[in-house]
Amino acid sequence: MGGDIKHNEEAFRVLRTNIRFSAVDRPLNVLVVGSVEPEAGKTTVAVGLGRALASLGQRVLLVDGDLRRPSLHEVFGLNRSPGLSDWLVNPGFEADKLLRLVGDNLWLLAAGTPAPNPGDLLASQRFAEVIRGLAGQFGAVIMDSAPAAVGADLLNTAAVADGFIMVISLGLTEREEANRLLNQLRGEGVRVLGVVVNRAEPKGRAYYGYYYGGGGKWGLGILPRLGRKGDSSRT
Ligand SMILES: Nc1ncnc2c1ncn2[C@@H]1O[C@H](COP(=O)(O)OP(=O)(O)OP(=O)(O)O)[C@@H](O)[C@H]1O
Ligand SMILES: [Mg+2]
Repeated sequence: MGGDIKHNEEAFRVLRTNIRFSAVDRPLNVLVVGSVEPEAGKTTVAVGLGRALASLGQRVLLVDGDLRRPSLHEVFGLNRSPGLSDWLVNPGFEADKLLRLVGDNLWLLAAGTPAPNPGDLLASQRFAEVIRGLAGQFGAVIMDSAPAAVGADLLNTAAVADGFIMVISLGLTEREEANRLLNQLRGEGVRVLGVVVNRAEPKGRAYYGYYYGGGGKWGLGILPRLGRKGDSSRT
């Protein structure tokens, strides 16, 4: 995954710029990255965006809000615990033991010890307090999430965020499902910033008509489909 992200640096810089422009009216300290289905590219986008923001010199925290199938720790070759779930159930945990430096200006709060009730943890008042507290300590908090298909976790993570970034994957995400999720989020008062189109074919433009048609506000970024070495050309 790490190599892919490197090749995508330019795309993430564009995404970073688009998000910073979205922040003119209201600050966007806490961002949640989500998708309809598994494997859309949430973790890839969270890490790439986190690195792109951190490279500007601001302190960035990546939070693994996917307590069921977390993977942010794997990206950095670390253990999943201790982390968020431990902090939620044990307020005595000291934050500096949980936040791990994983790059220049980049920290990770991993998912933590597997919990029997991840849904309850993310729905808790305590979760909201922890995240809002972290928001005051970092220039940006970027939270990875479980796919919406898994249940209420995505909505609960989005509820504590200042903005939501939807990842759709060409060839994977159903347009109707994506629209349903976006409408649901908006109905809950979540500020949807836009959509990252992942796995776009470098030579294809079909996705513009399909996903951007009429929507206007939808587009946030386009990440190319990465494949064999040298296959990451952009148009
Ligand atoms: N643009 C891309 N080109 C090629 N491979 C990609 C691209 N985006 C993501 N991948 C790969 O697809 C897989 C799934 O991506 P990722 O883990 O980011 O998705 P996810 O939405 O976080 O999945 P999950 O729902 O399982 O957490 C990973 O192996 C990742 O490296
Ligand atoms: Mg993931």
